[in-house]
Amino acid sequence: SGGSSRARGVPALPSVPVLGSLPGHLTCFPVRCRLGPLFSMQLGPHFTLVVNSYDLAKEVLLTRGRDFAGPADPRGKDIAFCDYSALWKSHRRLVHSALSLFGEGGPTHPISLFICFRLGSVGSQAFDPSAAVTRAVTNVVCTLVFSATYRRDDAELKEVIDYNNGIVETIARGGLVDLFPWLQRFPSRSLTKLKQCITVRDRLLQRKLDQHKASLSDGDGGIDPRDLLEALLRGQEGQKSEVISDDHVLMTAAETFGAGVETTSTTLLWIIAYMLHHPEVQARAQRELEEQVGLERPVRLSDRTRLPYVEAVIQEGLRIRPVSPVLIPHTALTRTSLGGHPVQPGTRVLVNMWALHHNPTDWPQPDLFKPERFLDGRGGRVSPSCFLPFGAGPRVCVGESLARLELFLFLSSLLQRISFSLPPAGPVPDLRGRLGVVLQPPPYLVVATPRHT
Ligand code: HEM
Repeated sequence: SGGSSRARGVPALPSVPVLGSLPGHLTCFPVRCRLGPLFSMQLGPHFTLVVNSYDLAKEVLLTRGRDFAGPADPRGKDIAFCDYSALWKSHRRLVHSALSLFGEGGPTHPISLFICFRLGSVGSQAFDPSAAVTRAVTNVVCTLVFSATYRRDDAELKEVIDYNNGIVETIARGGLVDLFPWLQRFPSRSLTKLKQCITVRDRLLQRKLDQHKASLSDGDGGIDPRDLLEALLRGQEGQKSEVISDDHVLMTAAETFGAGVETTSTTLLWIIAYMLHHPEVQARAQRELEEQVGLERPVRLSDRTRLPYVEAVIQEGLRIRPVSPVLIPHTALTRTSLGGHPVQPGTRVLVNMWALHHNPTDWPQPDLFKPERFLDGRGGRVSPSCFLPFGAGPRVCVGESLARLELFLFLSSLLQRISFSLPPAGPVPDLRGRLGVVLQPPPYLVVATPRHT
């Protein structure tokens, strides 16, 4: 076939499945086994290779990471879809250092203001935790991007949550439309809504940008930039203005919401859902917290090393339900190879994270939620090299340190104060997941009981 001449020796998918079923197809174990570690398919206009094994994923992301660092859409100004060029690299470095400001060793993170987010209805009432989780995570991202700290009912926070939801519900990442063309078939009502949300978002971010520019010219900045917008503006000053334009700054801020809110809150919702299925996991994490931190003082980032089980719960959550079961497409920039097969420039590669995370050789009983996989039996932690929940190589997630910090502080602070349980007659959460922009748990109900008053 035309496909096999473009990547010699790679089995082509015998019949392209109905596109709408592709994600289901890739996550379905028997189908994967039949197809093996590498296969090709024609996805719309794109000749595409799908990678189902860690060894090949390592080649795409790390060993030949530069060859496969191509974007989905070279016109984009945001990081995920931007051209792999000198500009992209310097831009990325800037974003990376701005996001790491909030990591260990950096200034005390204002996250501590929010970790104790009120779950709306702590008590005997069952409720859907997703709104409270999204609110808390959005709040942290707002602090990070433009230094706003909101109260729970703030109108501007609500605006941010609403436009972000609106965007996520319709498409969010341009790459997904490209990848799953059926997403384009929105009723025009959704498109109108999407445009409205983007207008609201851009207006708000532009306002924040203008305020930041004004305060920079007042010279009221410290040595370290106070947030992402300030870091980007300072980066702009150091360069020729066309290198990092205002458009770039705005797109990057917008992308931090796009890439940072839904992923982190969804991971937390998966972990809570799995703890409802496995109360013994919650109990063990709470025991560890009691012994290592106690119930009185707030959990600090520096407690991380003393809470290996809590960390293992997070790792297992990231493994069993990867928010992005198929990575953003990587495009071959030059003539290269994969698994010994020649690959032409322009070929797209999809890394099937789901397959990597559910391979029974690396993960015995892959469908079981077992945080102990990430412990060595003597209380130490292990992280198998085949575990890459944030990707790897030149396109690794720039938000990894922030995401890990948030997941740790949110989960440990919650478990210190609250026990989650099922509503008395309620069903257990459905763990199958729905693929939207990320793989989400269907809505579920939970009872949150304070552990001490
Ligand atoms: C890319 C995972 C949170 C910003 C990615 C990729 C993965 C990922 C797998 C793609 C890597 C690749 O294509 O090879 C996650 C997970 C998160 C998370 C599991 C949370 C649990 C965040 C946060 C931010 C962020 C909090 C920002 C504040 C980005 C950006 C990219 C990206 C900008 C694109 C990087 C590029 O293409 O150069 N993330 N992420 N992510 N992530 Fe995250």
